[in-house]
Amino acid sequence: MRDHDLARLRGEIDSLDDQLLDLVERRLALSAAIAVAKGADRAHLKLRPERQRAVVARLQAKAAPASADAVAHVWRELMAHSLERQAPTRLMLWTDGDREQLVRLVRERFGSAAALLWTISPEEALRHAAGGEAVAIIPSGRAAPLPAGVVAFEILHDAGRSLAVAAGRVAEEEEEEEDGPGRRAAPWSPGSWRERPATQLPVYRDPRALSRAERRLAGRAPLVDLHDVDGLRQRLAEVAEGKALLLQGGDCAETFREHSAARVRATADLLLDMGRTIGAAGRPVVQVARMAGQWAKPRSSLTEWVGGVELPAYQGDAVNGEAATPASRTPDPARMLRAHDQAAATAALLWSLVPDGGEPVYASHEALLLPYEQALVRYDELSDRWWSGSGHMLWIGDRTRDPAGAHVEFARGIANPIGVKCGPGLGEDDLLRLLDRLDPEQAPGRVTLIARLGLRHVEAHLPRLIGAVRGEGRRVGWIVDPMHGNTRRAAGRKTRLLADIAAETRAFFQIAAAEGVEAGGIHLELTGQAVTECLGGDRRPLAERDLGRAYLTACDPRLNPDQARDIAELVAGLAAEGAGREARAA
Ligand code: PEP
Ligand code: CO
Repeated sequence: MRDHDLARLRGEIDSLDDQLLDLVERRLALSAAIAVAKGADRAHLKLRPERQRAVVARLQAKAAPASADAVAHVWRELMAHSLERQAPTRLMLWTDGDREQLVRLVRERFGSAAALLWTISPEEALRHAAGGEAVAIIPSGRAAPLPAGVVAFEILHDAGRSLAVAAGRVAEEEEEEEDGPGRRAAPWSPGSWRERPATQLPVYRDPRALSRAERRLAGRAPLVDLHDVDGLRQRLAEVAEGKALLLQGGDCAETFREHSAARVRATADLLLDMGRTIGAAGRPVVQVARMAGQWAKPRSSLTEWVGGVELPAYQGDAVNGEAATPASRTPDPARMLRAHDQAAATAALLWSLVPDGGEPVYASHEALLLPYEQALVRYDELSDRWWSGSGHMLWIGDRTRDPAGAHVEFARGIANPIGVKCGPGLGEDDLLRLLDRLDPEQAPGRVTLIARLGLRHVEAHLPRLIGAVRGEGRRVGWIVDPMHGNTRRAAGRKTRLLADIAAETRAFFQIAAAEGVEAGGIHLELTGQAVTECLGGDRRPLAERDLGRAYLTACDPRLNPDQARDIAELVAGLAAEGAGREARAA
């Protein structure tokens, strides 16, 4: 090998070391933030053997050339240093056997960060463990009886014979299984979703390219202000109380090809105009664009067959390309950076349009692409909260709302208002579990439920969902998405009928009133461009033969401005009827 080759390889190693150091420092900083978040718990040492075991096992399962032992060794050391950041760990040892062997084995198991101290008796070690001041390391035979609150787990064994145990206080979240009634949830971190089953996430071929993109995203400024995130939450609390109406709308999927300042403005102007129409019915309107982050799409099938070849499905411009070729459909993490650039440009345009009343147009999107979302989470020291800088409001889609899944895990830890799409397949139990996980404190404005049942299902399913939430005495916002349950095919394309959209909207308002909750507004897929994607309408109805003329969407069919204004008028009328009913009842 020539000298300059060697120099290049060494240079690469140096650069990897720099990156590793950067990651280790980020990991330590997160640990410190967790300690702050735990507040008072911090003074007392608590073991998390189960969490540590899970972390190591997950990485061992992933590691290909690296051996399981090497992974365990490196991560136990890392975790030991992280724990030191949260609470200094003291290991109190006692043995009447081989001291050197015990020290060697303890270092293997607990890393080199913690201080080792010898004590005079196993009882003395356990007394310190009971006080949460230390972890006792003693021979297995000397661990009984254990003081109250102390748990022992085996650390050393030889040929099936247990030699020593570690004993200490275990963190509450490990004492009981998660998710049971009245039980505490496990600790959250921006990456805790990675330990949960995830659906709809792309499979990236090059993990290094992915972490490079994540790191670059993590270094960027948030697109939204925490102050406005909190402002929107207050407004959504008013929506839940019937004091305001929510109008949420924008593209099904933003794309690189459709982006221009004029188009962003046209869609935002349409939203503002619709807001004025709906607001004329009396209640103030909260305008939330489906923009500046609406990049990734859930798909019913993650692959498709094109000309005898199975390709990954198009998952949105932040993931892969629309063109049906293997190269374009291969998920590329660098797309997240381009998407974020475009989102920042879109956001800047949105913030420049201040509508009547000075209220900002807020931004929202589906929190689907979790590597992107995680990289844009920020920690606010002042209020000691994690929040997402990727949009004011994030929602969880109908396909990723598993209460035990990765997307719900991610959403539960951020302070932003959260929407949940509710399709006909959502059971009452799951809905209540979702609310428990996402909104344990029952904070006003935290959750908005977005019913997207479809005209065929709304009557059968909306009353049971509303009833389940009311039965628990919970107050959440309810709005209707009359688009996603009404998709059908015509002339070889995906489309939606205005008549279906209008009828589901009407049914939603009527059923909400009958079930005693406020119909809080509407969620629409629309664009300021004169597209021909949905059929029907009052002002300028579209027929099947028109569909091909300007069918531009990358995903679902959108309302054009005429059709969107038709629906805005309908909502204004329904809101006015509701207000009339209340006035008569009063
Ligand atoms: C969407 O809003 O684009 C979407 C995919 O919705 P849902 O999760 O309700 O199907
Ligand atoms: Co859609």
